[in-house]
Amino acid sequence: MQWNFQEIHTQAQAEAEVIDSPQALEAFRLKYLGKKGVVSAIFASLPTAQPADKAAIGKGANDTRTLVESLIVTRSSGVGSPQAQKERIDISLPGTGEELGHTHLLTQTMQEIVAVFEQMGFVTIETPEVETEFHNFTGLNIPIDHPSRDAFDTFYLDAEDPSARGRRLLLRSHTSPGQVRIMKEHKPPMAVIVPGRVYRPDAVDASHSFMFHQIEGLLVDEKVQFSELKGLLTEFCRRFFGPKVIMRFRPHFFPFTEPSAEVDINAEILGIQRKKWLEILGCGMVNPKVFEGVGYPKGKYKGFAFGMGVERMAMLKYGINDIRLFYENDVRFLKQF
Ligand code: PHE
Repeated sequence: MQWNFQEIHTQAQAEAEVIDSPQALEAFRLKYLGKKGVVSAIFASLPTAQPADKAAIGKGANDTRTLVESLIVTRSSGVGSPQAQKERIDISLPGTGEELGHTHLLTQTMQEIVAVFEQMGFVTIETPEVETEFHNFTGLNIPIDHPSRDAFDTFYLDAEDPSARGRRLLLRSHTSPGQVRIMKEHKPPMAVIVPGRVYRPDAVDASHSFMFHQIEGLLVDEKVQFSELKGLLTEFCRRFFGPKVIMRFRPHFFPFTEPSAEVDINAEILGIQRKKWLEILGCGMVNPKVFEGVGYPKGKYKGFAFGMGVERMAMLKYGINDIRLFYENDVRFLKQF
């Protein structure tokens, strides 16, 4: 028997083109590669072929098999093998979607606090986290031998302060250096708040972290009274925590304010059990020595300042009992706010 391989190949190609289902593909495979298929028939004709034709027939049979196999591979991606059909992507299924993130609770809290003060006419200014000893201590009337200057209480950098030979730069331990910076740059009257990160080498536990956030407030004018500071902070706490809040002003000492006080919030009223009173901020009338240090004319101005802990505020408002939760970035926690 004579085989026209050219024709067989053209025919197989034409048949492959029109395969449109897994069943048709299987029929095609059987027709050429099955036990009773074309390739078997070609091999079966070998024993009776002319010796001179045998090599060409053997090669033709192999070529046909290779061609059909590759046609099957090509077409199966088109129509899908039974396996591929099963695994086909169903584009009509609703997608799983990406979950959208949102602002961190601490950022939200800062924005809420800032918004309340902005409504009352304060302007927000950010000042550097890397500070000089002058801004963090000296300009705030903190004496040279004050324990807070100790390396156990402040993170010092390995970099010299370019403005003071032999003095190192540091990570600010509070936002109060913002007061000094702003007063050096601006003349009263002024009402500013300074939000930002502060750093202290504290051992980390449920209520301490080596980094946390504060919001500083400063108001300076020619006539300013302590009663106005009290009124402002009382109104702030009502707006932030709600009208039920109970607070107390407790006398305290800060070198940069005189007189000074700390404000505590009654935690029981807010539904938090741990302690009855929780401190949220320090405040007072700006010490005249601070005005002197920034070059304001003696006796001309009065002012008040306050500095509050943002984590504390958030913990009280949202009933959070461990400061570390803010920094672990566990989505199960973050999602709740
Ligand atoms: N800087 C003080 C602290 O970190 C808080 C404070 C700010 C007190 C402003 C008085 C005035 O504890």
